[in-house]
Amino acid sequence: MATGKTWRDERFRMVHRGFANLAEVLGELGVAKVDGILLDLGVSSPQLDDAARGFSFRFDAPLDMRMDTSSGMTAAQWLATVDEILLAEVIHDYGEERFAKQIARAVVAARTTEPIRTTRQLVELVSKAVRTREPGQSPATRTFQAIRIYLNQELEELARVLPECVTHLHTGGRLVVISFHSLEDRIVKHFMRDMAEGDKLPRNVPIRASEVPQGRMNLIGKAVRAGEAELKANPRARSAVMRVAERSNVA
Ligand SMILES: C[S@@+](CC[C@H](N)C(=O)[O-])C[C@H]1O[C@@H](n2cnc3c(N)ncnc32)[C@H](O)[C@@H]1O
Repeated sequence: MATGKTWRDERFRMVHRGFANLAEVLGELGVAKVDGILLDLGVSSPQLDDAARGFSFRFDAPLDMRMDTSSGMTAAQWLATVDEILLAEVIHDYGEERFAKQIARAVVAARTTEPIRTTRQLVELVSKAVRTREPGQSPATRTFQAIRIYLNQELEELARVLPECVTHLHTGGRLVVISFHSLEDRIVKHFMRDMAEGDKLPRNVPIRASEVPQGRMNLIGKAVRAGEAELKANPRARSAVMRVAERSNVA
């Protein structure tokens, strides 16, 4: 809590650990199953608005981008050594950026003369390499998103925590996931759909309806997006998608 005030509430326990360590943390807390899990993915507003975290291209600040600043490589350290091909792949796959190759080439060329240490340096490099402009969006948006997702292993952590959620939910317990870009939402959507469908059967196997395998989760409603009032109060919610699924009694 940035206010510096201490906050005590026996109902809450803060654990500084990656989402993918859910099972381990529940084990340490002696908790086998829970009634609900909320995964609120991505970066928080305080992280985006704190220049020193280096997540945002709005400030000129050190290129960090780590969600957990107690471990791992900063973006500046990674850009200093990353291979051009890997960099292009990361920017293409995690940023869905079609100028990924040009950006990677520009980064590798630039770092031979001067290390890329700040968000402004990277923004200027990317802006030169990206030849088109998406209305209302910095040309660096996709590259910053890509590097952040890669450095924080966001999609890998998500893919690892989702099955753990199913394992640790009580029957009737709910999984709620709020994602902030299409790559995350695609993983959540497909996972919940697969969990709802149950085990796939070989085609043309004559079985009774009562024998059709039931899913371990039931989808609750459709994807929820922010309404007008929410968007007015919180424009950052524009890309948020919430999906809900309920744990069935199927083991
Ligand atoms: C969208 S923010 C949550 C915002 C919070 N609900 C609020 O209202 O202020 C997501 C938070 O989860 C953290 N986070 C993201 N991925 C994580 C992961 N794999 N493991 C642990 N924490 C993660 C981020 O550092 C960030 O603080």
